[in-house]
Amino acid sequence: MNSYISWIGGKKLLKKKIIEQFPENFDRYIEVFGGAGWVLFDKDRHAPMEVFNDINGDLINLYRCVKNHPEALQKELDWMFVSREQFFDCIAQSDIRGMTDIQRAARFYCRIKSSFGTDLRSFSVRPRDLQGAVAYLQEVSKRLNKVVIENVDFERLVKTYDRESALFYLDPPYYEAEKYYPDRFMPEDHERLRDALTRIRGKFILSYNDCPEIREMYKGYSIKGVERQDNLATKTNPRRYSELIIKNY
Ligand SMILES: C[S@@+](CC[C@H](N)C(=O)[O-])C[C@H]1O[C@@H](n2cnc3c(N)ncnc32)[C@H](O)[C@@H]1O
Repeated sequence: MNSYISWIGGKKLLKKKIIEQFPENFDRYIEVFGGAGWVLFDKDRHAPMEVFNDINGDLINLYRCVKNHPEALQKELDWMFVSREQFFDCIAQSDIRGMTDIQRAARFYCRIKSSFGTDLRSFSVRPRDLQGAVAYLQEVSKRLNKVVIENVDFERLVKTYDRESALFYLDPPYYEAEKYYPDRFMPEDHERLRDALTRIRGKFILSYNDCPEIREMYKGYSIKGVERQDNLATKTNPRRYSELIIKNY
């Protein structure tokens, strides 16, 4: 199935190439930098135990509400339609106190669905099937039924779930793309990630933008270059991006 949201850096166009690199045997699957979860949602189940994590608290609150309270969230979204005023109200209400998790999740969902390039800030004018999208939350809830959902920094997550039989899929913010995420991922975080991965007992598969710094940081591991179309590519401007798939097996 497809993810229910778009997200900056989402792996919609690369997920097949990533999954085809998965090893044969693993009994726990951990998606460390979850975002829209395109790789998770692509399969009915990757392993008997699945963990999905992101440090973004609003995003994880949305996942938990979709998983545990899909009907209540759908009801809260009943009043939602595509309007500029409502979009900016959702932004204005994002930091006010006294809202339930479901009310917060609905407003965050509205920002994701109605923003340009999922930047959560600029209103995007285009027709959408919001009713269909809201109905789809039931299927998403079923897919998430047995998935453990976490909201911690990657280093803690890796330590907690590391076993020889584990497969970690990691899709950190691109190198030098700090400005696109509210929880900034700085050069020292990329190094912290590399160090955490050197200590790992399980298997990992990591996706990154292709740049000399990352190739240098992971020399000694299996590194494969892959190309994908840019999300904003058109017939007249078929922009392509190079990405890296890095593995310790
Ligand atoms: C490139 S996106 C992941 C996209 C995802 N693979 C998809 O298909 O949509 C990177 C994600 O890492 C999260 N993130 C940033 N810093 C983090 C940290 N220290 N620990 C865990 N997640 C983090 C961001 O909130 C963002 O959602």
